Amino acid sequence: MSPRRSPLVKSIRSWVRKLSAAFTENVSNIRSQNLSYRHPYFFLVILLVYGIVFESTLIISPSATTTTKQQQTQLSSKNKPLLRPSNVEILQKSQPVDMVFVQRSASATDGIARDDQGQDGYVPDVTALRQNPPGFNLTGGELKDACQIRDSDYKMIHEKVAVDASKKQTKQQAEQKILCVVQTSGHRHYDRIPALRRTWGPKCDGFVVASNVTDPALGTVHIPHGGTLDDPHMRGWLRVRSTWSFIYDNYYDQYDWFYFSNDMVFLLVENLRLYLASLEIIAATRYNQTTNNDNDNTQQQIPLFMGRRFALGGNLNDIFNAAGPGYVVNKAALKVFVVQAESYVPQQHTSKEDLMMARTFAHFGVFPYDTQDDTGGERFMITTPGHHYESQFPAWYHQQSIGIQHGVDHCSTQSISFHYVNSKLMYRLYALLYGNCKR
Ligand SMILES: *[C@@H]1O[C@H](CO)[C@@H](O)[C@H](O)[C@H]1NC(C)=O
Ligand SMILES: *[C@@H]1O[C@H](CO)[C@@H](O)[C@H](O)[C@H]1NC(C)=O
Ligand SMILES: *[C@@H]1O[C@H](CO)[C@@H](O)[C@H](O)[C@H]1NC(C)=O
Repeated sequence: MSPRRSPLVKSIRSWVRKLSAAFTENVSNIRSQNLSYRHPYFFLVILLVYGIVFESTLIISPSATTTTKQQQTQLSSKNKPLLRPSNVEILQKSQPVDMVFVQRSASATDGIARDDQGQDGYVPDVTALRQNPPGFNLTGGELKDACQIRDSDYKMIHEKVAVDASKKQTKQQAEQKILCVVQTSGHRHYDRIPALRRTWGPKCDGFVVASNVTDPALGTVHIPHGGTLDDPHMRGWLRVRSTWSFIYDNYYDQYDWFYFSNDMVFLLVENLRLYLASLEIIAATRYNQTTNNDNDNTQQQIPLFMGRRFALGGNLNDIFNAAGPGYVVNKAALKVFVVQAESYVPQQHTSKEDLMMARTFAHFGVFPYDTQDDTGGERFMITTPGHHYESQFPAWYHQQSIGIQHGVDHCSTQSISFHYVNSKLMYRLYALLYGNCKR
């Protein structure tokens, strides 16, 4: 993906080339000697060479540089503490949460979904998309444009952002079950949702679209929220609350992480998974814990609330995660928000859902975790790769951002999400990141 290759990767590459040349030679020798392909030595050679080539392919490919970059990250984390001091400060303010599911109060009226017949109590199978991914590839002129135009979107992806789409996940990674929750509304369904379902949606362990219309074919669910004002923006906060309640009530036990976003986000699920399964995040979740017993039902967890941090008006005591790129919470944080904060969360008509979220969490000692990588690259982006590459931002962006870098350095190699991605760009990013362009 990136032109930079380490000497190690280069030498492994040439080694593999030599081996495959030897292999080809071997095959033609065998042919010229008219040996039967059933000759036992032939299969031994095949097995041996295949084993070596396959093993080294795992090292250098499918994304040689990603692996190298990951190794670098891991190496540097050996010399540095896993948790940077600013994050330790954040974690120290929070209380561990008992992870056992508890019922919300019986008087709660939000969080109850309706099916397409208007019946209350609808609980869709959120694994349906993963089980039957529609699949999609750009073709013809669209593919050509997507791959060949050398604009800033292309440059940010090509020069910096990488995805390790290798099927070989570590056990830690595979064990992290991620539920992706997207907010939309009925009039946007056909414009937005198919692109999500064809690209990153199926990579989430569970995928559900919270909406005001239930359409089983698109995986959308009507979750009423009790808002009364006509302006949909002013109902934003009530909608978020109701969606979180619905998720907690029905999916808390099956998932470890809950990612919430709107319908204009491109999510790099592999990078999200990599981050959530990293030693850093495991350490953060267990911060202050005296036991690490995974089989213990009384297990506790530190709530984590992670996204793109901004300081409101530049005030470092008023940090929130911007709604745009979406945010991810662990079980403990979901439970804090839905159960502990139930009577605290104001029933307010307001569009400032991300501020409300941060204020609510802050009341319970949960503060946005700093998700920058070791080089200061951001993982959650409030706009497209190209906009970040060009770095032409208004003054407020600079004032409210916390320790950002500019241009190509702004984004982490392991970027997780980009906002303001329309369907066309979504297909294009998918082609650029997942190799469709190389064919
Ligand atoms: C898209 O392309 C990839 C890579 O060539 C291929 O594996 C996949 O099957 C294709 N998907 C569809 C739906 O054509
Ligand atoms: C869903 O929400 C959108 C945006 O607020 C609105 O235009 C539309 O009429 C709503 N649909 C239904 C069925 O309520
Ligand atoms: C967590 O750690 C902080 C500081 O190290 C300490 O003050 C606090 O009491 C600890 N909380 C728990 C529940 O152990």
